[in-house]
Amino acid sequence: MPRADAADRPAWTDHVDNPYLHGIYAPIRHETSAEELPVEGEIPHDLCGAYVRNGPNSVFEPSNLYHWFDGDGMVHAVHFRDGKATYRSRFVQTRALADETAAGHALWPGIMGPFDFDAPRHYLKDTANTDVVYHAGDLLALWYMCGEPYRLDPLSLEARGVADFGGKLRTTVSAHPKVDERTGELVWFTLADEPPYMTYGVVSKDGELVHQQPIELPGPRAPHDLTITENFSILHDFPFFHDPEILKSARRRVARFHPDLPSRFGVVPRRGAGDQVRWFEFEPGYVLHMVNAWEEGDWIVMDGCFQPDPNIRRRPEEGELASMLGYLRIRAHLRRWRMNLATGEAREEPLDDLNVEFPLPDTELYGSRTRYSYHQHLPEDAYTVEFRALVKYDHDDGSCVRYDYPDGWYASESPFARRVGGSGEDDGYVVTLAVHAGSFESQCWIFSARDVDRGPLARVRLPARVPTGFHAKWIPGDKLWPNT
Ligand SMILES: [Fe+2]
Repeated sequence: MPRADAADRPAWTDHVDNPYLHGIYAPIRHETSAEELPVEGEIPHDLCGAYVRNGPNSVFEPSNLYHWFDGDGMVHAVHFRDGKATYRSRFVQTRALADETAAGHALWPGIMGPFDFDAPRHYLKDTANTDVVYHAGDLLALWYMCGEPYRLDPLSLEARGVADFGGKLRTTVSAHPKVDERTGELVWFTLADEPPYMTYGVVSKDGELVHQQPIELPGPRAPHDLTITENFSILHDFPFFHDPEILKSARRRVARFHPDLPSRFGVVPRRGAGDQVRWFEFEPGYVLHMVNAWEEGDWIVMDGCFQPDPNIRRRPEEGELASMLGYLRIRAHLRRWRMNLATGEAREEPLDDLNVEFPLPDTELYGSRTRYSYHQHLPEDAYTVEFRALVKYDHDDGSCVRYDYPDGWYASESPFARRVGGSGEDDGYVVTLAVHAGSFESQCWIFSARDVDRGPLARVRLPARVPTGFHAKWIPGDKLWPNT
């Protein structure tokens, strides 16, 4: 893959031979603000709100083997209003970035280890680079290995410090908390190396921690997501986890798949106690991201991207990069799980066999039944993670339509944006960020959600390169500009 323009990436990337620091992944040096962006096509006037996306963007040269998940968080946003678009990018101003800026070099070795147990605060660097969620007037930038929730102004992306949820937060928070738009609550979990290995909590619509419970697990685990329904939350325990003894002796987290153990989902009332969790067992595997969950009578129904074999696909010829590259070679397919709260019955069925990940339904409908979701197709033969097609699923029958990105273009997680005045679950748009691997031009693409296979109806040209990244959300305009 060609290297990005040397002027816009840190000079040290020249001599670090790691694919996730070059090409479409190369970190960018500068923050950008730009208004009245040029557009091919026309921005719909009923598209009002913001596309926001988090991702890794290293400032300092890694002191050890770099992993794509290590980069400092940078949030990119495209705001749409009155047929016009603005773009901003800002680093997440984490304590770790401040520490490293003061030191002038990297202080943490990264998630590949070996870890420095004397590093500030924790042996893992909290980059807040993974997820971005709108709640109680803030954007929250969150980290998948569990860290501090960093608050950002949703319009300017300027730092607002760390969320402490009314001064009551005593733990870290994982990426992928869910906001229930019916109540305004933020439902979250976090993980730890020592008991309680999981903590579950609820933050009120006003941003105050109102519920927190320890969750009993057999040991340290590595779930990545949780789902909500109207009355319950569903927690994960997969047989893919690291050995705490190896962590102590080798100072590394080495994830192993245990196919003799089941996948387990724990159903707990929204404000239930830890001992009220009811566990259901399923086929062993792993899930990075669920689509959604909801209630149908006594049943909990949950759809997600199931990995039947999460083993790391190492290719020995890839040398010291083999573990990282292999871990990121995801094989995930859309699956449905059902759990009956009256009878205890558990059912599961595949919905399709296409390799897809980074799924999003209309996130305003988290916890309610959704029929549609929007995924990224990952080619199975790719060297690195590549988002190569937008796939819209109809969960009623598992059918899908797709738009394959043109040669050289790679996109991002693609949220649904309800049309102003829209009715019906897919009455709106799908928005994504795309970057070209040759020219490194970056664009924001707008699709009609009902015709994603026809390709973008508008392409907004961005004034700076946007590296490929992680999670994105759509923030509706009535939350950003409530008085207009
Ligand atoms: Fe994630």
